[in-house]
Amino acid sequence: MGDTELGAYKLISFDKISSTQDYAHDLIAQKKATDKTVITALAQSAGRGRYRRTWVSHHGNLYASFIYKIAERDPRLSYAVAVAVAETLISFGLKPQIKWPNDVLIDGKKISGVLIEYAQNFVIVGIGINIQTCPTVKEYQTTKVKKYADVSIEEVLSVLMKKLDKWRKADFYDVRNRWMELAICINKTVRYQGKDAELIGINEDGALVLRFDTRYVLTYGDEIRI
Ligand code: BTN
Repeated sequence: MGDTELGAYKLISFDKISSTQDYAHDLIAQKKATDKTVITALAQSAGRGRYRRTWVSHHGNLYASFIYKIAERDPRLSYAVAVAVAETLISFGLKPQIKWPNDVLIDGKKISGVLIEYAQNFVIVGIGINIQTCPTVKEYQTTKVKKYADVSIEEVLSVLMKKLDKWRKADFYDVRNRWMELAICINKTVRYQGKDAELIGINEDGALVLRFDTRYVLTYGDEIRI
C-alpha cells in the first residue's frame, strides 16, 4: 500500500485489493475518510459493478474509488462523473458515448463503468476503465483504451482527477448539455423494464425522461437496453 498526495487528492494505492470501493467504505466506517481521497488498485479480487454484478479486475486497467464529502445525496452527480470519464477519453483521442446514466462506450462497447454509493456524509465514486484488457462479460460487449491509444493508467488517472474536479463543480445546466451531446440513443427507442420507450433525455433534476406512446415517465433507477 502507498500513500501520496496528487493534486488536491490524497492517493492510497494498492497492488491488489478485494475492492477499492469496499476499502473506501471501511475508511468511512472507521472515521478515517477525508474529502478527496482516492483509492486505486492495479487489480481487484472482488471488484463490484452495478446491479450486483462482478467487475472483473485483472491487471492493466484503472480501478479507482473517489471519496467526496457531501452535504446531501444528489442524483445529478452521476452525469457529471459520466461526462468527466468521457472527456478524459476524448483527451486521448477516443470518441466515447454515454449510455444512461454513466456507462461509457466506444463503438457501442463498454469501456468504463461507474458505481456510486453513499456512506454517512460521503459519496464514493467507483470508476473502472478498461485500458490494457477487456474482460468477457455475459451482459454486454467490452472494449479497451489500448485499441485506440497508447496511454498509461497514471496518465488516465491524472486527467480523470482534473475532469472530475471540473465537472463536479460545473453548473448542472452545462453538465446536462454536455451529457446530452455525448449520450447514445437520444430520441431513439430503448427497452426499459421490458417495454419499448423513446429516450428523451434527462431533466433539470437529473431524472431520465422516457416516452411511452403519449405518456412521459421520469425515472432515476433501473437499466435501459439499447
Ligand atoms: C458498472 O457496473 O458499470 C460499475 C463498475 C464499477 C467498477 C469500479 S472499479 C473501482 C471500484 N471498485 C469496485 O469494486 N467497483 C468500482
